[in-house]
Amino acid sequence: LHVAVLMGGWSSERPVSLMSGEGVARALEARGHKVTRIDMGRDVALRLAGAAPDVVFNALHGAPGEDGTVQGMMDLMGMTYTHSGLATSVIAIDKELTKQALVPHGIPMPGGRIVESETLYAGDPLARPYVLKPVNEGSSVGVAIVTADGNMGNPISREARGPWQEFDRLLAEPFIRGKELTTAVIGDKDGPRALMVTELKPKSGFYDFDSKYTDGLTEHVCPADLPDEITRACKDIALKAHQLLGCKGTSRSDFRWDDERGLDGLFLLEVNTQPGMTPLSLVPEQARHCGMSYEDLVEAIVAEALK
Ligand code: DAL
Ligand code: MG
Repeated sequence: LHVAVLMGGWSSERPVSLMSGEGVARALEARGHKVTRIDMGRDVALRLAGAAPDVVFNALHGAPGEDGTVQGMMDLMGMTYTHSGLATSVIAIDKELTKQALVPHGIPMPGGRIVESETLYAGDPLARPYVLKPVNEGSSVGVAIVTADGNMGNPISREARGPWQEFDRLLAEPFIRGKELTTAVIGDKDGPRALMVTELKPKSGFYDFDSKYTDGLTEHVCPADLPDEITRACKDIALKAHQLLGCKGTSRSDFRWDDERGLDGLFLLEVNTQPGMTPLSLVPEQARHCGMSYEDLVEAIVAEALK
């Protein structure tokens, strides 16, 4: 096959996408496929048309690339591409739209509210502790945990500097104490299946950008040591969310679990339609535990796109 690997772009997750894309490109080459690497710029349509691949492997993260824009362009061009399509991507990149789509179906997600960053100066949007995050970023870019004692800075003073200031629309959600969990869903010939649950234990602070991509800063417990009902619930919710949103190829659902509250303490935070494929990424790690090498995983994602 001739596969164009689309990566880079200009989202805040560009460096992550370049790592994902390079890993994917090497895996495809190792399996004997012809690969064209495309670092996405404004001329991406011309470059894709020029390359004329059999299939595009979308290794983009963030917006544009994970948000439906690039998917819509490829639909218009008649290109076959991996991962989710236009409508799914538009919803899943937006954590508030995701809630509107999933909560009515009984998927537990944290309450909270949208705040315009200007209105933060009027006061705390929620009782502390709470989490402030841009509605449509990935890799924890722009995420702040506002604690009761203000030790992460006080976002509601104009003098305060913080990640939230660069974003217009933020989501404020109650902070859920306890564990950070994640579950990958992969589609194969028998349809999508949830793989397992990983617990992420950052050595300090929370599972932020540095903890995600610096080797040794986060312990991955895979599979996580959890009560059976929590493992089962994570897998059920991840699979149901994948299906309700119409995800394709692979997705990864991220959770918080308050282990003092049993099943009532489990909350889906978001569904990632373009999960990371870097050496430290979680979907490849879960696949490996299921006996699927990185190369197998990449080929499975391509095969689903061609189905
Ligand atoms: N946003 C990063 C790439 C992830 O979900 O893995
Ligand atoms: Mg994400």
